[in-house]
Amino acid sequence: MIEKLNTIKEQAFDEISGSQDMASLEKIKIKFLGKKGELTSVLRGMGQLSSEERPKVGKLANEVRDSIQAFLDEKIFDLKQRAAEDRLKEERLDVTLPGYKMGVGTIHPISLVLNEIREIFGGLGYSVAEGPEIESDYYNFEALNLPKDHPARDMQDSFYITPEVLLRTHTSPVQVRVMEKVAPKVPVRIIAPGKVYRRDDDATHSPMFHQVEGLLIDREVTLGDLKGTLLAFAKAMFGERVEIRLRPSYFPFTEPSAEVDISCVMCHGSGCRVCSGTGWLEILGSGMVHPRVLEMSGYDPEKVRGFAFGMGVERIAMLKYGINDLRLFFDNDIRFLKQFK
Ligand code: PHE
Repeated sequence: MIEKLNTIKEQAFDEISGSQDMASLEKIKIKFLGKKGELTSVLRGMGQLSSEERPKVGKLANEVRDSIQAFLDEKIFDLKQRAAEDRLKEERLDVTLPGYKMGVGTIHPISLVLNEIREIFGGLGYSVAEGPEIESDYYNFEALNLPKDHPARDMQDSFYITPEVLLRTHTSPVQVRVMEKVAPKVPVRIIAPGKVYRRDDDATHSPMFHQVEGLLIDREVTLGDLKGTLLAFAKAMFGERVEIRLRPSYFPFTEPSAEVDISCVMCHGSGCRVCSGTGWLEILGSGMVHPRVLEMSGYDPEKVRGFAFGMGVERIAMLKYGINDLRLFFDNDIRFLKQFK
């Protein structure tokens, strides 16, 4: 019996040593220490032993059971430990790896130019006025001396919401809205920046773009004042070397009307590709406010006069930053945008 007990112990130790998981350890435990296990069956046979042998065998049996149990516990502890270590290795987090940087945004070049225009005209005493982008036919056309059948309406084809409501094609309706509010008081000195919409789409035209309108009304206002104001603006925006010229033009809401060019920012007037060899670049439309427009908005054209101008912000930004495709402004490509700081 003593031999038998020793064999059980050896066998149990062998099997425990060779086992690699909890499930097989559990089976081993049942096999050797369980109620129907090998050790139990040895103990059952103890009744046949002599009274001398019985305590010896009993003692040994206890020792064998305790050592098997202890070895099992040790093995279980080892397995748990190893599992925990494996998990730690798997879930390892290297806190020394460089993190992801959150990029700080930059101000859009159109906003930069808009801010600069606001600042320049702010310095000349102009305040900022605003009007709706969804505009009535009356403010967008009619009150600007463009009656329904006027052929000049074709110059600004637009997006209509109803036959009487459209996306504004220019910022000029803000002139009318401001005049209606403050007439017959003078002086009026406002700029009106904002989005405008036209049915255009190519490298130099987009269906949505930005304009800044300017309007000045006072008792004595001349074309010279207009030219002086725009020259001051052009020099502040493009540098002291810049010159301007006024070319006769036509707008129904100004008389006389003039297209304003600046000397080419690339070649300074000698002629290059940017200015198509002319030395000049068109940047805005302008003129003296038409007497009919003054009258419709509540002013007496015998007593006051005004000048007005409207510039394209994208066009100015393209010239200022040397950008050759208008669509770059709206692609939202970070590589393009982050160049403007
Ligand atoms: N509204 C005109 C345009 O968009 C520009 C302009 C404004 C011309 C004011 C004269 C006076 O083309």
